[in-house]
Amino acid sequence: MATTFENTRLDIDVLRQFLVPKHFTARLFEFSRREGILSLIRTMGRFTSQEFCNVIGKKLGYQIGNASRKRMLTILLDFLEECGHAFQEKPDSYKYTLHTKPIPKLSSKEMEIMEKTFGGQALFFERCIDYTGDFLRGRDYLYGFDKGMEDIWDKFLGNYEFSIARDMLLKAMAINEGSNCKIMDLCYGTGYGLEAICRNSPDTDITAIDFTDVMKPLAVSKVGSSAAKIRWIDANAWRGFGAKLPFEDMTFERVLFSCGDPYIPEPLRRDVYRDIFRVLKPAGIVGVVAWGYPDKEKKHIQNEWVRKGIYIHDFAESVCKGWNGFRNIDSTIKMARDIGFVETNTIFDNFYMLDSAIWAFKKP
Ligand SMILES: C[S@@+](CC[C@H](N)C(=O)[O-])C[C@H]1O[C@@H](n2cnc3c(N)ncnc32)[C@H](O)[C@@H]1O
Repeated sequence: MATTFENTRLDIDVLRQFLVPKHFTARLFEFSRREGILSLIRTMGRFTSQEFCNVIGKKLGYQIGNASRKRMLTILLDFLEECGHAFQEKPDSYKYTLHTKPIPKLSSKEMEIMEKTFGGQALFFERCIDYTGDFLRGRDYLYGFDKGMEDIWDKFLGNYEFSIARDMLLKAMAINEGSNCKIMDLCYGTGYGLEAICRNSPDTDITAIDFTDVMKPLAVSKVGSSAAKIRWIDANAWRGFGAKLPFEDMTFERVLFSCGDPYIPEPLRRDVYRDIFRVLKPAGIVGVVAWGYPDKEKKHIQNEWVRKGIYIHDFAESVCKGWNGFRNIDSTIKMARDIGFVETNTIFDNFYMLDSAIWAFKKP
């Protein structure tokens, strides 16, 4: 069951202790040391990201001919840069440095909070990072959205961070028009978004769609008696990203798209959002939960632990089938504007909140 939030301020304070990024910074560092990446980078002097991938790939037998595996190495380089192990002298020219920032060790009290509050997320990252060496050397994906994987996803997706983000987003989307408001939960997964919609706006007219229905029983059980009034679209009616959504133009006031964006293949992304635009009514809003990739200029994401947390998440989930990663923030804003969306600020002053985790695009 997802956590519910009574006091957003307190919830965010817990989140902003950064226990997960702190714990997994040590873990990813340990991974890099054990794999021999840290010793290799020390020998490299000055290098570009391509040279980093080539050297590490060749010496450690990583299959960098594969785009998602190569991408993992570039994330790792960005992470090591954030930790102070590599310094970027000019665009795409790095050198090894010894000015590493200290790696915090969580106290036993903090470990206790992490396990209690962030257990599902921590377990998921742990299993993924455990597997990354094998994956980089060519083993198959660890998880996909297939039968038998539902519980893994359910434990992960119910995590505190996502739950806060979904709740805040739904508040920001101001779904208060009652039963006249039609909302689509795009890629409902194991149902945490549906559960949050039912809790925040019980009278809303809800449509649930996903490209697979293997997680539907979990979603149904999460919404209880509300399941009967949700319109569940059969998985056969939608092939997934790249296929037209099976709805008329201007059907919905709201679309919730939570934690699905990183699974859109890059060449299809614009078309996916264009199709969301199509099915929204004028003044309709699509709310998206997905981190933006930390920008080098630190214009969008400044906080060191937010940045590290995003690198860790992106790196870890890369062992999942279909993961395409967190997207460049400026490109996302440009894509949305090109399609015709405008910025919306129903609650917050900003287009995206929580350091880029929550987005709301409005159709004029
Ligand atoms: C990380 S889960 C998020 C689920 C849910 N929205 C949430 O917030 O918990 C990603 C979702 O994207 C869907 N998905 C993955 N690949 C897809 C594809 N190629 N086309 C359509 N949906 C896809 C999965 O079925 C899953 O529901």
